[in-house]
Amino acid sequence: MASPGVNLQITEPEQKLLQTLIYQECGMYFDERRVHFLQDRLQRRLKATGLDSFYSYYRLLTSREGKAELNALLENLTVNETSFFRNKPQLELFQKTTLEEILHRKQARRDFSLRMWSAGCSTGQEPYTMAMMAADALAYYNLRNPLPIEVASATKPLIPPPWKVEILASDINYSVLRAAQEAVYPEHHMEPVDYASRLRYFDKVGDRYAIKKGLKDMVHFDFHNLKTEFLPQRNDVIFCRNVMIYFDEAEQKRLIDKFYRCLNPEGYLFVGHAESLFGLTDKFRMIHQNNGTCYQRIEA
Ligand SMILES: C[S@@+](CC[C@H](N)C(=O)[O-])C[C@H]1O[C@@H](n2cnc3c(N)ncnc32)[C@H](O)[C@@H]1O
Repeated sequence: MASPGVNLQITEPEQKLLQTLIYQECGMYFDERRVHFLQDRLQRRLKATGLDSFYSYYRLLTSREGKAELNALLENLTVNETSFFRNKPQLELFQKTTLEEILHRKQARRDFSLRMWSAGCSTGQEPYTMAMMAADALAYYNLRNPLPIEVASATKPLIPPPWKVEILASDINYSVLRAAQEAVYPEHHMEPVDYASRLRYFDKVGDRYAIKKGLKDMVHFDFHNLKTEFLPQRNDVIFCRNVMIYFDEAEQKRLIDKFYRCLNPEGYLFVGHAESLFGLTDKFRMIHQNNGTCYQRIEA
């Protein structure tokens, strides 16, 4: 047993073993800039388990009984920073160009379903932003391209029928998924949300803001580890922002290939502001407009 308060030094072989295990489990890679963060989190978990060496800790993680501890470690290693309406120029591109193009293309085929995925959704601000933007875009699109379907105004749904919008939001971290599902946010998270959206999509509960049921029902949360092969298929749009930044180049390439297969033909991929597909694939074309960037699947 390690005595509490004492920091055990991790040896180089122990660190290598643990780094490799983490990489294999979730794709996260710790270069020299982030290795102190890794060491700090490993120290914390070692103390929490009361084990007396990092090698014993590694043995625990790779044992059948170590599943829960492996999840706890991965949760401690993820960076969950997020916000509503993050990267506004990119979201404007998403709403005004991407969604508009998809809706026209789908309506021409009489396909009224839209399927989107927020991969690495953290506490939910990203998928709820996607839902708000899709609901607004569809309301505006419907105004200009009305379909001959009568809906009584008192029961007007958020998404005008026959359109259906489904957003899957996934993460590797169960705690953030629970918070996302709860969908209640403090005032200081609301700064990027304008008053019109607050009124339309949130209820004030005490001093916090709760996502309204109609919007909440558009988003389904699930656990998905992006390292695995079996990922949700048939998406029109994938947001995977500020996730790949923690992976090395080989893992980024593998993930982009998987996203290609998870997208419908001509589907769109949105990555983070500091991320790019440049040099990693030739299966997507870049779209850049007013400081916003996204990538569209190229069809053979
Ligand atoms: C920095 S947050 C980004 C949240 C949101 N996409 C945004 O841009 O605001 C990164 C998220 O990716 C998740 N993540 C990291 N590795 C993952 C993996 N292998 N599979 C699924 N999610 C992962 C983390 O748990 C974290 O919630």
